[in-house]
Amino acid sequence: MSQGLFITFEGIDGSGKSTQARLLATLMRDYGNDVIHTREPGGSTGAEDIRRLLVEGDPGRWSPETEILLFTAARRDHLERTIQPALDAGKVVISDRFADSTRVYQGVARADLRGTVDALHDQMIGKEPDLTFIIDMDPEAALKRGLARNSGEDRFEDMGLQFQKDLRAGFLALAKQYPDRCKVINGNQSPATVSGEIQAVIEAWQR
Ligand code: ADP
Ligand code: TYD
Repeated sequence: MSQGLFITFEGIDGSGKSTQARLLATLMRDYGNDVIHTREPGGSTGAEDIRRLLVEGDPGRWSPETEILLFTAARRDHLERTIQPALDAGKVVISDRFADSTRVYQGVARADLRGTVDALHDQMIGKEPDLTFIIDMDPEAALKRGLARNSGEDRFEDMGLQFQKDLRAGFLALAKQYPDRCKVINGNQSPATVSGEIQAVIEAWQR
């Protein structure tokens, strides 16, 4: 592969993105690819430092506007140091979240700021994945799963159930906006069934 392949996982908190990103990384390695499995916020040393500011602490710690700047700063570092070099080397990059999370969390659910998110994205990031899996799930069940992890990274989960419902609607609207790139997968199924559906999309897409 000369240009690499950029795949992202998106969805509400606790929907099973990390689990599926890990399973897909294994599958793509089994297919013989060189795979970088990464995540946002984070994925590079500087971006992981910014992550701690974003996911820990009081829900009111940052305004939606400040969050847009912090997530975009983290993403720029992640893109410069991890994603782009790997794609240039022909690798498969699988990222647990990317710009769609900012479009939905900061652009729709936290505030009505999609125009600001898009403007900053165009100026500072300007990159879209080749393929995005949106894991769709019942917000109540996902919130229970997420909070049960006791990760200490629950700032967004602490924004409550209505916030997760707004996020879900936001991700489904985004899938309609980008139908070629975004594939919606039903996350209310066993991990093996979800991963089988993802594998089927990948196989059809690569043909
Ligand atoms: P996310 O990255 O979207 O927050 P995770 O993959 O970390 O989600 O999953 C959240 C929790 O739910 C974890 O404890 C995980 O083991 C569990 N989990 C993941 N996928 C499923 C599934 N399909 N069915 C039941 N539990 C799941
Ligand atoms: P993550 O660790 O993926 O959370 P989870 O495993 O609960 O899905 O992401 C951390 C939190 O940051 C998550 O609640 C979503 C939020 N987030 C945004 O609000 N905007 C963004 O641009 C990104 C990448 C994440």
